Amino acid sequence: MRTKRLGDVTIRAVDGGALPTHLVAQIDAIFFEASRRSAFASANERAAFRERWLGRYLAGGSDVVLVAHDLEGAVAGYLVGALDDPAEQERFADIGYFRGAFRELCRRYPAHLHINLAPAFRSRGIGARLIAAFSARAVAVGTLGFHVVTAKDARNVRFYTRCGLSALGTTSWSGREVVFLGRALPGGESSLSRR
Ligand SMILES: CC(C)(COP(=O)(O)OP(=O)(O)OC[C@H]1O[C@@H](n2cnc3c(N)ncnc32)[C@H](O)[C@@H]1OP(=O)(O)O)[C@@H](O)C(=O)NCCC(=O)NCCS
Repeated sequence: MRTKRLGDVTIRAVDGGALPTHLVAQIDAIFFEASRRSAFASANERAAFRERWLGRYLAGGSDVVLVAHDLEGAVAGYLVGALDDPAEQERFADIGYFRGAFRELCRRYPAHLHINLAPAFRSRGIGARLIAAFSARAVAVGTLGFHVVTAKDARNVRFYTRCGLSALGTTSWSGREVVFLGRALPGGESSLSRR
């Protein structure tokens, strides 16, 4: 018999373009709570913020969308990510560090992700499971490595380090110090040296 654990969740890979609106609404709520940004000058600015860090990954296509559901089916958290180098994609041109300070690192660790959990589901190992699922998807398509960019002083840096990512570079962006954390994937080093 399956043992019920506190915070028991199921992780599903979904087509972001086919997500029902009630699940999108729950993902949005988690995103805005986790981003801790509630003040926006206008509805347009709020929409642009959501688009930059979440919306564009839910448009379907090759992006990865992983949703963690609790036993009742409610969204406990999510991971969204892209598998190809963001410095080479026009849709990420609004995030200056991809083509700027982190351009070379993006080439070596091309896939990237954003992850957020609802407060009640944090610190139970669910985030690590989402990262492992994303890593498996990236390995399956032969990506050299993956990365995240976060605030240099954020508590989540410890989480990423425990997930096997290493701090590889820092820069100042949008008024704060950010850090690039990357993890090479099996075969990554050798495939890079063959290029
Ligand atoms: C970061 C996050 C995805 C990690 O998932 P998780 O399942 O909680 O992680 P684990 O249980 O495997 O590991 C616990 C670690 O998560 C991180 N974490 C937990 N709560 C956190 C919070 N409120 N804010 C930031 N990081 C947090 C910490 O690094 C923690 O380790 P610590 O207790 O030594 O500080 C999740 O905690 C979260 O969504 N946090 C808030 C939003 C966030 O920081 N998202 C990432 C943006 S780059």
